[in-house]
Amino acid sequence: MDVFRVEGNGPLEGEIRIGGSKNAALPILAASLLTKETVTLKNIPNLSDIRFMVEILEYLGAEVHNPELGTWEITAHRISHIAPYELVRKMRASVCLLGPLIARLKKAEVSIPGGCVIGPRPIDLHLKGIRKLNCEVEISNGYVTVDASKSRGGHVFLGGRSGSTVTGTANILMASVLTPGITRIESAACEPEIVDLCNLLVKMGAQIENIGSPELIVTGVSELKGCEHTVIPDRIEAGTFITAAAITKGHVKIQGIPHSFLGAFLDKLQEAALPMEISDDSITVLPYKGSLNPVDIITLPYPGFPTDLQAQMCALMSITEGLSIITERIYPNRFMHVPELQRMGADIAIEGPSAIIKGPCDFSGAPVMASDLRASAALILAGFASKGVTWVQRIYHLDRGYESFEQKLSSLGAKIERLSDTDLPNDLLEK
Ligand code: EPU
Repeated sequence: MDVFRVEGNGPLEGEIRIGGSKNAALPILAASLLTKETVTLKNIPNLSDIRFMVEILEYLGAEVHNPELGTWEITAHRISHIAPYELVRKMRASVCLLGPLIARLKKAEVSIPGGCVIGPRPIDLHLKGIRKLNCEVEISNGYVTVDASKSRGGHVFLGGRSGSTVTGTANILMASVLTPGITRIESAACEPEIVDLCNLLVKMGAQIENIGSPELIVTGVSELKGCEHTVIPDRIEAGTFITAAAITKGHVKIQGIPHSFLGAFLDKLQEAALPMEISDDSITVLPYKGSLNPVDIITLPYPGFPTDLQAQMCALMSITEGLSIITERIYPNRFMHVPELQRMGADIAIEGPSAIIKGPCDFSGAPVMASDLRASAALILAGFASKGVTWVQRIYHLDRGYESFEQKLSSLGAKIERLSDTDLPNDLLEK
């Protein structure tokens, strides 16, 4: 297994370009099943989660070509309706296959994804929505089985305790585009990734009104066609690099990211007094002296502060003078990075869904375990602000969602090396 050896090396400096969005690409890949014609997708990041999704599409019968890095051509001429546990268990986003299979084949049998370290990830809202489309839904032997032979448009409310659901909205959208009648999705997710999916579906011939709003209106059509689509940039990758620049007091231009994707995040950094230059498609973090200001953050569905940048902000606020409170409203237990940051010297107390951070701490390098994708990034960022060496283990989590992470960081002057776990210092080797 690979590990990262990370060492503080002063301010990051230079320019990087943001890659395609993982969370937009995953449902968009699933949407290619909605037509028999070829769908050409560009700016798809080269990540293990993408490869899992492609593997499932191939298993279902789609022909898949990868003519160049970032481009995938998918032709789903004949497909089957069963997505088995062996494939689905590798990635929760495979639940997004339900919508396209229901729409295209009027039946689906998809294994229910298993547990997740960031907290319970139920799919009750997905299933409620599918039932509202007059489908019969059954759960047995770990599978969701849907009979959509009598499906028709309906009125679907997708709000849950934590607001809407991103992949749930994707599923109901994809199910309804080929379902006769009008479907009204209320409390739909408004994330840029959902807007990107809507834009792809419209190119394929779908009729969707109010794109980007919490009330989507879909008029079912009888078939969809192939198209070419370029996936939007990854706002979470951009936010992670912005935080990396901030934690090292660096000077980094992050290119290819519309600032509107990161409104709440940039607003908090401005409140923290991080100097930045913001233009239409780039954000430049400027160097600063002393400490940023502490800020209080509550994670919320878009356009609120994204949960996927919460761990990285915990690292940044740890070296910031004063008291910050970071409250997690999407996944109240998503604080697995906190004990690891504490091992590196952070002063953080967890009170219910909040992390109370007293800064500044002096981070010092330590061996740490990554527990999920964004936690991995937070530990690496803390490593850049540490004295000494940080060994980050279980980085397969990071490889799910950050493309060429260490190459991009190295180009900015970061000291980060991918090694094998056999290279760990003797006292860290598992005996
Ligand atoms: N929820 C329910 N019932 C449901 C679905 C969701 O109660 O049927 C709850 C969840 O438990 C959670 C909240 O609703 O409290 C939001 O969950 P959502 O369904 O929106 O999450 P998701 O679609 O499974 C996507 C991203 C996550 C990101 C969340 C929140 C993808 C593939 N995943 O997950 O990304 O954290 O939205 O923004 O799009 C990541 O990239 O690291 C990641 C975890």
